[in-house]
Amino acid sequence: MMKLYASPLQGFTEAPWRNIHHELFGGIDAYYTPFVRVEKGEFRNKDIRDIEKENNKVTCLIPQLIASTPAELEKLVGLFLERGYREADINMGCPFPLLTMRHKGSGILPYPSEVKVLLNELAHYPEMKFSVKMRLGWEYYDEWRQVLPLLNAVPLTRIILHPRIGRQQYKGMVYKKELRLFAEMCQHPLVYNGDLHTPDDIRRIEEEYPDLDGVMIGRGLLANPALDRVGQGHYCPLPPSEPYVRVSPHTAQAFQSLCSCAETGSSYFLFPLFFTG
Ligand SMILES: Cc1cc2nc3c(=O)[nH]c(=O)nc-3n(C[C@H](O)[C@H](O)[C@H](O)COP(=O)(O)O)c2cc1C
Repeated sequence: MMKLYASPLQGFTEAPWRNIHHELFGGIDAYYTPFVRVEKGEFRNKDIRDIEKENNKVTCLIPQLIASTPAELEKLVGLFLERGYREADINMGCPFPLLTMRHKGSGILPYPSEVKVLLNELAHYPEMKFSVKMRLGWEYYDEWRQVLPLLNAVPLTRIILHPRIGRQQYKGMVYKKELRLFAEMCQHPLVYNGDLHTPDDIRRIEEEYPDLDGVMIGRGLLANPALDRVGQGHYCPLPPSEPYVRVSPHTAQAFQSLCSCAETGSSYFLFPLFFTG
């Protein structure tokens, strides 16, 4: 059966959202954290809080890192190992110009030699498994063609592909033809990510690409936190109100508000509600 992964969305899917989603809905094979990064040589406190085991109640949590140099990768993997993680994800998809201009996220995709240097580092961590979450490219939809052979050459648990380019951010056409070519050439388990908002969307992608390892859902899961129910064999999500009766009305209301503002703007202002609820 296809696996279901919860996408990382910085500012939305931090520990409070993940914990409550897991408690109320479940059905997710792994939650990915928003990326942890090194900023002026340091970690951000909020990133550390987000991955601390004591703040996380979900069964499977995979911390994500963003890095463009071996030194950054080393520091971040060191942090994850120290905090008890044995699996991590490498972000090669982030489209934010401030990061891509430093060859981070999708900004590394036009530079296969830099990808190679980064991937060579992975061999230093036999105790750690790695996955890669990526786009087709930063500027051009075929940049992946230079990068995928490098990814195929190292052990990865999976590749999660959002088949857009960085310049598109999160909108615009999905490159279906490239996705098919990517799927044919990819030697790792492949997870599809992008624009899955309804059970039918999930079913369609499953039918089109039966060899997929799974799907990763971001905005769709925020808008309809019961969307993952499709993974349990029935394609009819629960009415949104039903699971909320299991928690205090205060918490339920906060969760619902968080989900409904997901596509419109930042949700930081809602987080205090979770801590006081
Ligand atoms: C506000 C916002 C923050 C995001 N933060 C991250 C992140 O930290 N790491 C990451 O890999 N992707 C991040 N993404 C991308 C999502 O994980 C996902 O790939 C994207 O939203 C497309 O999937 P969807 O259509 O299911 O939402 C972010 C997207 C948004 C809109």
